[in-house]
Amino acid sequence: MKKSTMTPWKVEGDVNYEKLVKEFGTSLISEKIKKKIEKCHPLLRRGIYFSHRDFDKWLEAHEKGKKVSVITGRGPSEKMHLGHLVPFLVAKSLQEQFNCEVFIPVSDDEKFYVKENLSFDDSMKFSEDNILDLIALEFKPGKTFIFEDFVYTNIYKYAAKIAKRITYSEAKAVFGLKPENNVGWSFYPAMQAAHILFPQFMRGKHMSVVPVGIDQDPFIRLTRDVASHRDFNLEKPAALHAKFVPSLTGDAKMSSSEGTQIFLSDTEKEVENKIKRYAFSGGQNTIEEHRQHGGNPEKDVSFQYLKYFFELNDEKLKKIHDDYKSGKMLTSELKQILIEKINAFLKEHQKKKHLAKGQINKFLIKN
Ligand code: TRP
Repeated sequence: MKKSTMTPWKVEGDVNYEKLVKEFGTSLISEKIKKKIEKCHPLLRRGIYFSHRDFDKWLEAHEKGKKVSVITGRGPSEKMHLGHLVPFLVAKSLQEQFNCEVFIPVSDDEKFYVKENLSFDDSMKFSEDNILDLIALEFKPGKTFIFEDFVYTNIYKYAAKIAKRITYSEAKAVFGLKPENNVGWSFYPAMQAAHILFPQFMRGKHMSVVPVGIDQDPFIRLTRDVASHRDFNLEKPAALHAKFVPSLTGDAKMSSSEGTQIFLSDTEKEVENKIKRYAFSGGQNTIEEHRQHGGNPEKDVSFQYLKYFFELNDEKLKKIHDDYKSGKMLTSELKQILIEKINAFLKEHQKKKHLAKGQINKFLIKN
């Protein structure tokens, strides 16, 4: 096993998820919860989301007819790729299933502080571009609220109130701040806590859930502590934690530095080339061996992508799984299915992103 490091700003090596659940004190998503979300997005029902905090309470509040909401954010450090969609696809699916409001902060300040080479102007440009990608996902207008930290400056008031209740040593312990980090890093946790409590600041005390990568849990813990402070007296936000979607090459996190991810702006040809060239295969070295021994869908990145993103039909997915495992389906055939699915998705997405420009006002909150 490769050595693993994980902070909200860096993930490397293999991640032991069971250990994290113990270390962080979160709960695995139970069968009982799974039953209640079985119509939701495959990312939720097929296991990328594996852990939670108080999501049972969130579901219960909804069952009792109380208000519930979803909040999850985007750190706009670059153009978006498939892996970035994970929390938003889930947020959308929760919105559809539970008819609730969704709040989406875009933390250009965070990325500006943390990415040494990201200029101020570029961080704002990526915000604008990423916001169009988010709108293209077709959240419900009137029930979905997007804001960018550098533009929706009202958020600062909330961040300040929270910052006053976080000590430097808490921030340091939770985030592993280092002496050489600029001071933006130490303030930013207050900003993200403000994001997470924003639905309650706007709409009053209620249960809100944050679908996020498990690496973001330190923010959740900090925010839950702050929520119950007497200055605020808010509900502790619930969380749904995702594992990392593997990169094309099969690494733990689909990070962009390796140049092997599918961007939402990729052309059909680029998608085809990347999948053929990089998608880690669970197949055998030769066709003869493959026919004889079959492939390993658990390791095969193309199969994983079908499972988590693109093959919504459980029976069809099972057939692909079984055919691949038995050797009836070859890697090249599996890849071809994925290429077609991704390209169909991206074609629609790119069209909707273009149209999103005319819809911005329906989604952005104003100061
Ligand atoms: N920090 C998150 C990231 O880097 C983005 C983010 C900003 C976020 N605000 C949030 C995530 C609120 C969840 C909730 O990806």
